[in-house]
Amino acid sequence: MNTKKIQILYDKKIQLFKKYNQYYFEKSKPLVSDKDFDDLKKEILKLENIYKFLQSENSPSNYVGYKPSKNFEKAFHRAPMLSLSNAFSEEDLLNFEKKITNYLSKNNDFEIIYSAEPKIDGISASLTYKNGNFERGLSRGDGKEGEDITANLATIKDIPKKISDKDFPKDIDIRGEVFIQNSDFENLKEKFANPRNAASGSLRQKNPEDTKKIPLKFIAYAFGFEQGLKQKKQSDYLKKLDEWGFKTNPLNKTISGIKNLVQNYNLVENQRANLDFDIDGIVYKINDFDLQKRLGNVANAPRWAIAHKFSSNKAISKILDIEIQVGRTGALTPVAKIKPINIGGVIVSNATLHNEDEINRKDIRVGDTAVIERAGDVIPHILSIDIKKRLKNSKRFIFPENCPSCGSKTIKEFNKITKKVDAVRRCSSEGYYCEKISIEKLKHFVSKEAFNIEGFGKKIVENFWKLKFLKYPQDIFKLDYSKIEKLDGWGQLSVKNLIYSINQKKNISLERLIYSLGIRHIGLENAKLLSKHFTSFSKFKNLSVQSDYEDLLNIDGIGETQVNSIKIFFSNKTNIKVLNELEKVLVVKNAIQNSKDGLLKNKTFLVTGKLNGISRAELKSLIEENSGKTVSSVSKKLNYLIIGDKPTKKKIDNAKKLKINVIDQAEFMRMLNKTS
Ligand code: IVH
Repeated sequence: MNTKKIQILYDKKIQLFKKYNQYYFEKSKPLVSDKDFDDLKKEILKLENIYKFLQSENSPSNYVGYKPSKNFEKAFHRAPMLSLSNAFSEEDLLNFEKKITNYLSKNNDFEIIYSAEPKIDGISASLTYKNGNFERGLSRGDGKEGEDITANLATIKDIPKKISDKDFPKDIDIRGEVFIQNSDFENLKEKFANPRNAASGSLRQKNPEDTKKIPLKFIAYAFGFEQGLKQKKQSDYLKKLDEWGFKTNPLNKTISGIKNLVQNYNLVENQRANLDFDIDGIVYKINDFDLQKRLGNVANAPRWAIAHKFSSNKAISKILDIEIQVGRTGALTPVAKIKPINIGGVIVSNATLHNEDEINRKDIRVGDTAVIERAGDVIPHILSIDIKKRLKNSKRFIFPENCPSCGSKTIKEFNKITKKVDAVRRCSSEGYYCEKISIEKLKHFVSKEAFNIEGFGKKIVENFWKLKFLKYPQDIFKLDYSKIEKLDGWGQLSVKNLIYSINQKKNISLERLIYSLGIRHIGLENAKLLSKHFTSFSKFKNLSVQSDYEDLLNIDGIGETQVNSIKIFFSNKTNIKVLNELEKVLVVKNAIQNSKDGLLKNKTFLVTGKLNGISRAELKSLIEENSGKTVSSVSKKLNYLIIGDKPTKKKIDNAKKLKINVIDQAEFMRMLNKTS
């Protein structure tokens, strides 16, 4: 990459980092997970490390948090509030200790004693006490300058307002963490993603009376500027903090030896789910203040401390219960209800167990201690079980033989293609007999790719179902709005909006309608194929009387599995009734049938580069409407390569080698007797 490109890439990442920072620190509304945030930070630092010319005042190497927000007066810290470097493995810790030993010019057998303190995931604050009086409290801000949040901090009970102990230094900044206990977060979880955001948001209320309403806690662990501090060790300082009336972490320990640090780390990680506060690692500090002073700082972190972080996508917790959820297609999915735990900034209380086979294979039981993984946006799942922690009286989980919703027999189907019995157990009921399946069908019906009725989400489906306003899809178009208007949370305006959104969707394309029915194995693509084949709703509906299923096999892309599923759908009387009722209330647009003998019959196309005035999706439709086909790579099967702006050279070269026609957009349009 040339310098210019690197600079552009770097600037882009810096802009993104600035934005994430702002949302995280100033607005308390993170845009991305902690892991993505940290990853971006690492990428920027890596670039700066390789390309020394890169620099920005917004680089993570320059500032700790985000600049203080404008709501509060700003003030400089008397001693900067530093950040901590991170360690993720035993190896990182060994390196950390080695560097310290080298720096202090000690032998390898020099015993370093650490203060090991669980790292509470909250908001740090610096409290200035002069002559024992709490005078001012600052947030961390960018580490150099913080926000004056004295009035808000003063509402916190854990922060002593006056300390008369004779040992208390006459001028000191006491530093620690403001946080919300998990049990208190329960009442705030509708508003915030995790306790940390809740603490940050509450602390930044403009009116201290609003802060007062939130049960914020404070734990002390460090100091900034000081005059008259007599202690020489962190462990002694922590003890004194207790005597002076501050809260300290009950899990703080003094430890020496990396092996012992790791043992303590594992022990605490196992306890995490049972703690009433979120921790995201353990902070190790050299216990001796003289050594701390000698070691000093690097950039914006001390050399004498490190944070041993817990994995940002895994955590240990307990399985409280195993619930069986029934999906739209009747699939029974076991879900582990776990003791809520913060994994990378997201509170996880459910983990999927996939299916019956998975439970049996891993012998997962209620009461087990499990490692839960949350990777990307996928549903968290159970990685493993700690058999040693299993309770003596625990019992194997017996998967229900009957549907937990409607009581019908459950079955495991034989898959003709794989010649294996399905891993998934299903409720054998059909149509709208099973309550859970019906609700899920309705949720699917209003979902984004289906009817996409604005303001009609899953919660509303559940609520209207409970109130018996809904049972079948057609009921959506026959709602009694006068009843809705009287419900809690609804008013004239919201009902008016709902009526508008529903009426708007009464005009629907055939393919969306077919997809909305939620026929098993008929997803968006298949619904499209079927709509092209039938062209009108009445012809599609006719399947119930004509039952010309064999013909469907001629549709390219539709196989036996799909046809079977369509057959089952049409053999159910309730489904037919739903179709008849929908026909009465909807206006279904006919599909344009692709001509079988169009101008592009038996011809295949591939596009490379950007086209002018037409999207790839539209071009694909255009090709298909004229009986042509698109392929995804250059091969002997390709007839025409259409070249747009900035094409891939390799594709053109390959096409030429294979003597494939290489044409531009205008030539393609001429093939259709069109000019572009
Ligand atoms: S010491 C220079 N001790 O971790 C020392 N920090 O990334 C820095 N934290 O901003 C602070 N528990 O919000 C220290 N026992 C503890 C801590 C702790 C949590 C947080 C604090 C700090 C961040 C460092």
